[in-house]
Amino acid sequence: MRRDVACNVSFHKGKSNSHSQKYMTQTNSIQTIQQQHLQIFITRYNQKTKTSKQQAQTYRPILADNKTLVGFNPVLKELFYPIVAKRSLGSNIWDIDGNEYIDVTMGFGSNLFGHNPPFIKAALQEQLDKGIQIGPQAELAGEVAQLICELTKMDRVAFSNTGTEAVMTALRLARTATNRSKIVMFAGSYHGHFDGTLVKPVTVDGNLQSVPLAPGITPNLVADVLVLDYGNFQSLEIIKAHSNELAAVIVEPVQSRRPDLQPKAFLHQLRELTKELGIVLIFDEMVTGFRIHPGGAQAWFGVEADIATYGKIVGGGMPMGVIAGKASIMNAIDGGMWNYEDASYPQAKKTFFAGTFCKHPLALAAAKAVLQHLKIQGFLLQQQLNQRTSHFVERLNNYFQEEELPIKMTNFGSLFGPASSGSHASSENPESSGFDLLYYHLIDRGIILRGSGGFLSTAHTDTDIDRMIEAVKSSIEELREGYFLPHRSSNATLKL
Ligand SMILES: Cc1ncc(COP(=O)(O)O)c(C=O)c1O
Repeated sequence: MRRDVACNVSFHKGKSNSHSQKYMTQTNSIQTIQQQHLQIFITRYNQKTKTSKQQAQTYRPILADNKTLVGFNPVLKELFYPIVAKRSLGSNIWDIDGNEYIDVTMGFGSNLFGHNPPFIKAALQEQLDKGIQIGPQAELAGEVAQLICELTKMDRVAFSNTGTEAVMTALRLARTATNRSKIVMFAGSYHGHFDGTLVKPVTVDGNLQSVPLAPGITPNLVADVLVLDYGNFQSLEIIKAHSNELAAVIVEPVQSRRPDLQPKAFLHQLRELTKELGIVLIFDEMVTGFRIHPGGAQAWFGVEADIATYGKIVGGGMPMGVIAGKASIMNAIDGGMWNYEDASYPQAKKTFFAGTFCKHPLALAAAKAVLQHLKIQGFLLQQQLNQRTSHFVERLNNYFQEEELPIKMTNFGSLFGPASSGSHASSENPESSGFDLLYYHLIDRGIILRGSGGFLSTAHTDTDIDRMIEAVKSSIEELREGYFLPHRSSNATLKL
């Protein structure tokens, strides 16, 4: 509940000399209140999570670690360390200092059934007893592929270890199928950390260009990527204009960074257009897959993609990526269908695909348990969970509105986050301190968020939801007392 809304907060930014001495005195006293508040809070937080802080300091020289849920903010430096988790069950995590939390990070969306659900644990234990044999065919590979095809309505499936690998493979398959090079992706989407998708758009002399998102990625690697506006019908015109060179359009049907953008009509038109132009449509369903509906965003929006990539939920907490798609495209993995005792052979043009740990027995055991559970429970499981998430978000928004706070949350299924325009306030901006602090205040009250939002699981109870809402309310009250958040009908908040 921090990042995307921070930019909306109204702060006084200092006044001209003509303003009275009274104002200066008021400013100084507010700053003093803020500093005192911060000092008291930091002491309390550090005391409560002291072993996590110690570990961060002890291992920083040797552990290169960017895995933090919020960015570095110099003002809040003493709070900047990850909470070290020791164990988990259901909706809870316990840290190394023995504190209990309600977790809505949920393994970045992988734990649809909460932590360590008994049916996945049993499947993993059974597989551990059998061993982790890699090399020969995995016993469960075919069965899991079949379950995925059944739920997603795709023809064929290949397994990788992560979502990033699944996306990388999907793009390679699309290029193989079309003999074209370029791909379109949309601004605001995330498709993993493969160099070929770490791209940002820039406009030079009125022309749209793609440049690497980060150092170490060469311009050559992103030269074949066009980044367009998501949900904007003009993007379809650009796709048309480049149709002869486009292998694929990859889309995160609802971007986890902008859950409020759910452009059904755009997706339908995109499907029609790509079909007409012979461009492969890839749905990256890493977050939406099995969450919004057993058949993912394809089923939800009524759009059939050519390839869909999955991960997270399907692995039941184990690392897994899935590439599922039409047989005509997936056949480039193995040459396609053939039979014994006749003249058939794998005829399709093949590309390269590999990975030591693909079809890992433990990941497949967990995936089988997940998929069977989803199949038995049916769409009702998602419907109930999605509805509870919508209700949770509605309660939060009612509170924010009553309190005149510039925050609006939204959800897509069990994913929730700030409704945003797509802009992200930097947490290095001191003005975002108020909302950065909200994140830490919630941890202090036993709630672990994924940045500004998170995921509900079937393990979260009504009591968990009530506790989260109470934690938000009391955090905001405390932050207002410290003059870090705007008071009702007032702008009496200062930047630190
Ligand atoms: C839409 C989407 N695609 C791809 C990925 C990459 O998956 P992984 O982190 O498993 O490599 C993610 C990860 O969050 C994602 O959200």
